[in-house]
Amino acid sequence: MNTLTLHSPFSFISNLLYKSHLPKVIHAAIELGVFEVIAKGPNSCEEIRKSLNTHHHITESFLNLLCSIDLLQLNNGLYELSALSKDFLVKQSPVNQIDYIASFSGNSGPFDQLVEGLRNGSSEFKYDMWSTEKAVLGMEQMAKGGSLQHIVSFITSIPQFKNCRKMCDLGGSIGYYSFALLEENPNLFAHVCDLPKVCQLAKTLKNNHPHFNRVCFEEFDIHTNQSFGHDYDLFLISHFIYEIAAQKKLLELLKNVNRSMTLGAVFVSNHISSDELSEDHKITLHLIELQTRLMGYPTHQLPEELLVNALTEAGFGDFRIQKPDKNLAYPSLLISAIKIKNI
Ligand SMILES: C[S@@+](CC[C@H](N)C(=O)[O-])C[C@H]1O[C@@H](n2cnc3c(N)ncnc32)[C@H](O)[C@@H]1O
Repeated sequence: MNTLTLHSPFSFISNLLYKSHLPKVIHAAIELGVFEVIAKGPNSCEEIRKSLNTHHHITESFLNLLCSIDLLQLNNGLYELSALSKDFLVKQSPVNQIDYIASFSGNSGPFDQLVEGLRNGSSEFKYDMWSTEKAVLGMEQMAKGGSLQHIVSFITSIPQFKNCRKMCDLGGSIGYYSFALLEENPNLFAHVCDLPKVCQLAKTLKNNHPHFNRVCFEEFDIHTNQSFGHDYDLFLISHFIYEIAAQKKLLELLKNVNRSMTLGAVFVSNHISSDELSEDHKITLHLIELQTRLMGYPTHQLPEELLVNALTEAGFGDFRIQKPDKNLAYPSLLISAIKIKNI
């Protein structure tokens, strides 16, 4: 890990980049007349959606994002104008700055089609977005900006880790977390399960890695097959089960995970939850959620309570929870649990 030691948090740059999308969001709100509608009096999401003739699912995260940047307020389920928007964003205000704001057009980006998306619904999600060479190398490089070090430090601090021999990295892409963990435990062997296209890329891209012979890339599609091996004493899932959870299939998946593990084995989850974040991160995560829904993917949030309850029901206990780290670009919740019973 020496070559990957960080000297400053990448989140400072990442949050800045996300904020650069805000002009598009504010433009969309002005174009749709959000502030004018709400200026008539506090309104629920459903009432606003009807007035704007927009889709509920995307409108909700759109309004929540506007709240996170203090342009709206949410009180008892009703959206109201904030002091800022009352002055500067409604046409009837004598001091409105709508033309000035319009001069901040923003560059092209994920919210270019926001008005169309709000009106017509999201586009169809492109599942191959994680399967190109550019995408996998990009995710690996992004992980090196902080989350890789964070996960490795969390897992290596679990007392059982030094005795682990066989791990599964579900939806593990080209295995960047696995390779880093193998570096820390010379007796560990990893099975990285991912889509066939990703496994084939991994075998080419990682061929010369010093630990290549200690990783097996298993071609696998979670929608058609949920048997991912057996006798694992470490099981990692990172940024992978948002859709499964949204489809209410989390418990079923975790029971299958349980069946693939030995008693006393360690499970680790690394996912975005919306809990306890700094102000900058709240905005960033609202932007990510709006972008996610607009792209046609259900969500990029997995609440702590939902995951802990499902894990408990699936035979896990002895939880260790590390709250999101503000220094990370995508501050995610780390949870480890021990398999305490067979299911
Ligand atoms: C957001 S990436 C997360 C990668 C890595 N675990 C991380 O945290 O950086 C989601 C991963 O899930 C894989 N994936 C998506 N759909 C899948 C499916 N139906 N079955 C198996 N893997 C899938 C993708 O190829 C990708 O590697």
